Amino acid sequence: MKVIHTISSLKCTLNDERNSGKSIGLVPTMGALHAGHIALVERCVAENDICVVSIFVNPTQFNDKNDLLKYPRTLEADYELLKAAGCSIAFTPDVNEIYPEPDTRVFNFGSLEQVMEGAFRPGHFNGVAQIVSKLFDMVQPDKAYFGEKDFQQLAIICEMTKQLQLSTIIVPCPIVREEDGLAMSSRNTRLNISERESAAKISEILFKSRSFAGRTPIAELKQQIIQIIDEVPSLRTEYFEIVDGKTLQPLSDWKDSDYIVGCIAVFCGEVRLIDNINFTPKSPKGDLERL
Ligand code: PAF
Repeated sequence: MKVIHTISSLKCTLNDERNSGKSIGLVPTMGALHAGHIALVERCVAENDICVVSIFVNPTQFNDKNDLLKYPRTLEADYELLKAAGCSIAFTPDVNEIYPEPDTRVFNFGSLEQVMEGAFRPGHFNGVAQIVSKLFDMVQPDKAYFGEKDFQQLAIICEMTKQLQLSTIIVPCPIVREEDGLAMSSRNTRLNISERESAAKISEILFKSRSFAGRTPIAELKQQIIQIIDEVPSLRTEYFEIVDGKTLQPLSDWKDSDYIVGCIAVFCGEVRLIDNINFTPKSPKGDLERL
């Protein structure tokens, strides 16, 4: 595995590979890698000749500066995991390499960014679009891999790709969960033992709620879920929305969409966690098996 820190060296290496007919896949990350990231990397390795993994804690997407400071950084361990997973290139630029001057671009994702993460983390998706569009420009990937845990991010990136008329194929990858159901996240390492126990209740409650989909009115189910989660020690729901899986707009009736997803953000102590659940009957096997 090559470790590359500069854009010029990355472009030069990738041009050689592209000119010899190789396909290129990209997995953008902010490091502190876990099995969820590695699942993306393994898929990228399987589907492309060259797998590039970027590790860059992108300051422009953090609306909370404390969250940026506390974001876990585990570069040496990340390299070992990437090597073992078959990654070809780890791209780990520093902030000045990516932002030699401030990025003043403003994206407009309309109603997609006005709900949930977009509403509670102003500017977050603009920062995500800034870094992902830069990475796409540098790597020119045939395919790019993103986890479904960040459900709204995935929708925003698909929209950005469409708006910029890029030919990169966006590959959504299923959420990877811990044994007890907690969605894998770099932020999980910041939970203490009792918070970690409470955090597992989030997915447990979401999975149980699936049996009420289509039966209990949406407003009632939302209220119940928020109440049950907030009764768990250390947990405080920031939002729980039941939305159309394509437009991300909140639904008031189960009949209004045939692709329905429940999206949640919960503070566990000081750590903000997100998760989501597919409420559509034809949802992926993984979710159904847990009920
Ligand atoms: O999902 C993430 O880790 C980040 O938002 C991403 C896509 C790597 C952009 O910084």
